[in-house]
Amino acid sequence: MSPHSARDAIAVLDFGSQYAQLIVRRIREAGVYAELFPWDADPAEVLALRPKGFVLSGGPASVYEPGAPSLPPYVLESGRPVLGICYGMQLLAHALGGRVAPAPAREYGRAEVEILEPEDPLWRGLPSPMAVWMSHGDRVEALPPGFRAMARSPNAPFASIGDPARRLYGVQFHPEVAHTPLGRELLRRFAVALCGCRPTWTPGAIAEEQIARIRERVGGERVLCAVSGGVDSTVTAVLVHRAVGEQLQCLFVDTGLLRRGEGEEVVAALRALGLPVAAVNAAEAFLEALRGVTDPEEKRVRIGHTFIAVFAEHARRLGPFRFLAQGTLYPDVIESRAPERRAAARIKTHHNVGGLPPDLSFELIEPLRYLFKDEVRALGAHLGIPEALLRRQPFPGPGLAVRCVGEVTWERLERLRAADAIVQEELARSGWAERAAQAFAVLLPVRSVGVMGDARTYEEVVAVRAVATEDFMTASWVPLPHELLDRIATRIVNEVPGVNRVLYDITNKPPATIEWE
Ligand code: XMP
Repeated sequence: MSPHSARDAIAVLDFGSQYAQLIVRRIREAGVYAELFPWDADPAEVLALRPKGFVLSGGPASVYEPGAPSLPPYVLESGRPVLGICYGMQLLAHALGGRVAPAPAREYGRAEVEILEPEDPLWRGLPSPMAVWMSHGDRVEALPPGFRAMARSPNAPFASIGDPARRLYGVQFHPEVAHTPLGRELLRRFAVALCGCRPTWTPGAIAEEQIARIRERVGGERVLCAVSGGVDSTVTAVLVHRAVGEQLQCLFVDTGLLRRGEGEEVVAALRALGLPVAAVNAAEAFLEALRGVTDPEEKRVRIGHTFIAVFAEHARRLGPFRFLAQGTLYPDVIESRAPERRAAARIKTHHNVGGLPPDLSFELIEPLRYLFKDEVRALGAHLGIPEALLRRQPFPGPGLAVRCVGEVTWERLERLRAADAIVQEELARSGWAERAAQAFAVLLPVRSVGVMGDARTYEEVVAVRAVATEDFMTASWVPLPHELLDRIATRIVNEVPGVNRVLYDITNKPPATIEWE
């Protein structure tokens, strides 16, 4: 049974579009709960949500190819409204007796559609012409019986089709992407006007529901939560704390790989929220594990193992606990459900608390499992978590170890912390911090010759990196003003012993990654 079956909801079927998650997000932004399912998901699982309507996503296949993903029969049998997007529209047309064929020319990019049925509930109140984003090779050539054209573009006579009597609709363009500025409005009309969903998906409602559910599940038992100061673990801990108060125990592990002052700041901020936090300083264990290691993946593996060992030791000391609360997010859940969606080549290994010893088997509480990051931030704000915590830059689990290229020693970490503090300070002071999703210093295992006063120096190099990104999958370097770069470089060389040269990283992702290791 879906945990959301009591709520008005839309089921989005994923036919392989890179935008499938965006459809879900846009519908939720309209206040209506939506969930993503693989197109060939077990029908019982989808129907357990009791969806009031279905959206069929786009996808890379052609409906007339053998083996192409097909429309599961339960969708039309349900009698609920359906909106097919791109491939989804072609699928609908194909399944109902229309004809789909390759378009004379692939259409990709901005287009304008003329609305032909301005009084239809899907289109009512939207301007004509309307700017949309097209990306397709096939198109509908002949309409299925009962359908008519709802919108057309110069290249696509059937830019949108519909059978209003059966509440079946299709759009050839992508309403979910930002390049279709009013696409969200269209999705809202589908969910609210056509499917009759009440827009009850608000941070307040999510919080109430999650707190009640945690309280019911936990009963009188105790819950452990590893906190890092990051948004996800903080929101998770606050939800559990609201639900069961002192039955929650938070554990903060200072790996010694944090930025300057970070450990103390995070623990103070979490305690200020009323959370019971046990702080553990395990810097020595981590340094010991990292001694002599320079390979980035080996660093991650050793840090992962050390984290588990430290975590297990203190879980036993503070326990027993029946439950472990984790801030797993919806995109992770979607990816683990459809493993082929993961980047084919694993670029870097990311760690959560997994692989605990068998005597520490917890039942998991994952209150953010159905949420996107921006929903988590909105929820956090609703729960009264300060902006400063919600807007923190993401910081990799292995911390400064992957920014201390080469061997990680305490001396080099301190050098890196000093340089990084200058970067943070100068970016904050100049206002550029807000324009970078992540900004940091990297210490390179390269020495170069310099001259300070009258003396020759032979010291290490610091690289500065600042990137702008929406989703961390792609990123572009931030064009920091030259005066700011100058100030950062001058300060680092003057104030950080052991560094005599500073570089600015002007590589985008791809081809580079955000972190250097
Ligand atoms: P990359 O370097 O792959 O980073 O472009 C993308 C985002 O992920 C963060 N990152 C990590 N986070 N464990 C983490 O928890 C890791 O091992 C790790 N490596 C990179 C990085 O900071 C960026 O936000």
